[in-house]
Amino acid sequence: MSTPAQTVLAYHQRTKHRLERYAAGPETLDWSLQPDPFRSFAGAPRLPLPFTAEELATPYSRLGTPAAVAPHPPGIRAIGALLELSLGLSAWKEYGPDRWALRCNPSSGNLHPTEAYVLSRGTPGLADGVYHYLSREHCLEQRLALPPAAQPAGLYLALSSVHWREAWKYGERAFRYCQLDTGHALGALRYAAAALGWSVSLVTSQDPATLTGWLGLDRAEDYAAVEGEEPELLLAVQPVPAGDPPAWAVDPAPAARWTGRPNRLDPHAMYRWPVIDEVAAAGRQPASPPDAQPLPAYPHREETCTEAAADIIRKRRSAQAFDPRGSIECEAFFRLLDALLPRGAVPWDVWAYAPRLHPVFFVHRVAGLEPGLYALPRSPRGKHELRAALHSDFLWQKVDAAPSHIPLYLLQAGDGRKAARTLCCHQAIAADSCFALGMLAEFGPLVRDHAWRYRQLHWEAGLLGHVLYLQAEAAGLRGTGIGCYFDDAFHELLGVSDDRLQSLYHFTVGVPLADSRITTLPPYPERDSKHNGAAHDT
Ligand SMILES: Cc1cc2nc3c(=O)[nH]c(=O)nc-3n(C[C@H](O)[C@H](O)[C@H](O)COP(=O)(O)O)c2cc1C
Repeated sequence: MSTPAQTVLAYHQRTKHRLERYAAGPETLDWSLQPDPFRSFAGAPRLPLPFTAEELATPYSRLGTPAAVAPHPPGIRAIGALLELSLGLSAWKEYGPDRWALRCNPSSGNLHPTEAYVLSRGTPGLADGVYHYLSREHCLEQRLALPPAAQPAGLYLALSSVHWREAWKYGERAFRYCQLDTGHALGALRYAAAALGWSVSLVTSQDPATLTGWLGLDRAEDYAAVEGEEPELLLAVQPVPAGDPPAWAVDPAPAARWTGRPNRLDPHAMYRWPVIDEVAAAGRQPASPPDAQPLPAYPHREETCTEAAADIIRKRRSAQAFDPRGSIECEAFFRLLDALLPRGAVPWDVWAYAPRLHPVFFVHRVAGLEPGLYALPRSPRGKHELRAALHSDFLWQKVDAAPSHIPLYLLQAGDGRKAARTLCCHQAIAADSCFALGMLAEFGPLVRDHAWRYRQLHWEAGLLGHVLYLQAEAAGLRGTGIGCYFDDAFHELLGVSDDRLQSLYHFTVGVPLADSRITTLPPYPERDSKHNGAAHDT
C-alpha cells in the first residue's frame, strides 16, 4: 500500500516527458471522435444569463486595485458578466470543415476539462440552489432547488474537472493539465470579479467529500454511465457576505430535488488511464488552514493599460506562432514580471498560500537586456532554494536596470533559443518568442508532507500563466502556455539533480503572427446582435 504522497510523487515521475520518450498516451487519435467539449444536464431548467460584460467600463488599469471599482450590486446581471468574462466563450473559429469554440480561459489542447457551478442563497434574481454553467449557451442549468431556509445569503463558485476530456488526448499526463487549467480558471474568475469590484476568496476549510455532495457529483444514478467530475475548489464571492465554512450549507438534499442528467461526452472511449483516478484520490485537499507565512512586502504596482478590462479579457488568445524578429522593451518586460510578484492585489489576493513557484526565463529579445537565462525567485525563501539547487557557477547577478524591488537575476548570458525550443517538445514558439520560461516549484519536501500540495502547486502555476496571458495582451503582445516540455532535460540544464525543485509549467510571450486562414466568428451570434459577421483572425 502506498501513502498518498508516494502515489502522487510516483505519478509525477512517470508522467514526465523525456527526450527519448513521451509520457504514456494514446497511440492514435481520431479527431472526429473528440469528446463533447460541453457538459450539459438534459432536463435541468435553464436560466439564460444576460450579456452584461459589454456594459462594464472598468479599465484594465483598475483591476489591481479592487477598492477603485465601485462594487456592482449582486444579482443575475452581475453573475452574467462574471461568468461571461471568466469561463464564457470568446469566439468561434472555423478552418475548412472544422469549427471550435474559444473561451476567456485557456485550456491545454482547447479541451476544457473545467466545469463551473454556482451555489447561491439570497442572490436577487436567482432562486436559491446549485447551478451548472453551460458556456455554450451562457446559461445556468439548475441542478438543485433549495427550499427557503433561515441561512444567510451566500454566493459561491465551485470548479470541477472532467479528467477524460484531457486524458482522451494526453493520456496519463492529463491530470497535470487539468490542474493547470483549474489554476487558469481561478485566475480568470478573479480578474472577472475584479472588473465588477467584487472580491473572491478560496475556501480552504472545505473537505472534498462534502463539496462533491453539494455539487451532486457523487450521484451514482446520474454519473454511472457518463464521465465523472472531480471537485477541485470552492470560492466565496463577495459582495455577498460569506461565512466560513459556507453559511449556505445544506443537509443532504433529497433525490427528488435534483434535476437534469449529465451528458455522455465520449461514447467511443478507447483507452483507460487508471493512474489518473489514483493520483486524483491521493491528492485531494483536506480542509486545511491557509498558509500563515506572510507575503513579501512588494510595493503597490501601477498598471498602465487603460483599455476596458472586458476587452483585454475577451481578446486573450494563445499565439500559434511568433515573429522571430519581434522584441519588447525592457520596461514592458519588467512590468510583466512585477505582475507575477505576490501581493495583496488582484489576482494574488485570491491565493491563500505562500508563493512556491519561481520562473526561470530564457530571454531572447528584450531590448536593453542581454539574452540569457534569468531567475525571478518570488520570495526570499524561493531565492534560497534556487541558489541551493541550481548550478553553483550561475552568476546570480541582480539586474540593475529593473526596478529595485523586482528580484530578477542573470544566471548565465547566451543565446537560449535552441535550448528553449528543444525543451518545449521542439515547439518553435519557444525560440521565436521574446522570452520563454519554466516555472520551478518548491516540490519534494512539500508534497512528501502533504500530497494535496501537488494539486495546489499546479494551480499556482496556472494562476501565474493566467497573469502572463492577460499582461501580455495588455502590453500588445501575446502568450502561450506550454504544457509539453521535457521535465528532466530542463532540470539538468539548470543543475537541478533531485526533486527539491520541479518544473510544473512553461510559457512563452512574444509578438504574434496571425493565421489568416482561420475565420473568427462571434461567440454568441444568436444572442449578441452587436457581433454579427465574420472577421479574419487577429
Ligand atoms: C495548461 C496549458 C498547456 C498548454 N500547452 C500548450 C503547448 O504545449 N503548446 C501550445 O502551442 N499551446 C499550448 N497551450 C495553449 C492551448 O492550446 C490554448 O489555450 C487552447 O488552444 C485555447 O486557445 P486560446 O488560449 O487561444 O483560447 C496550453 C494551454 C494551457 C492552459
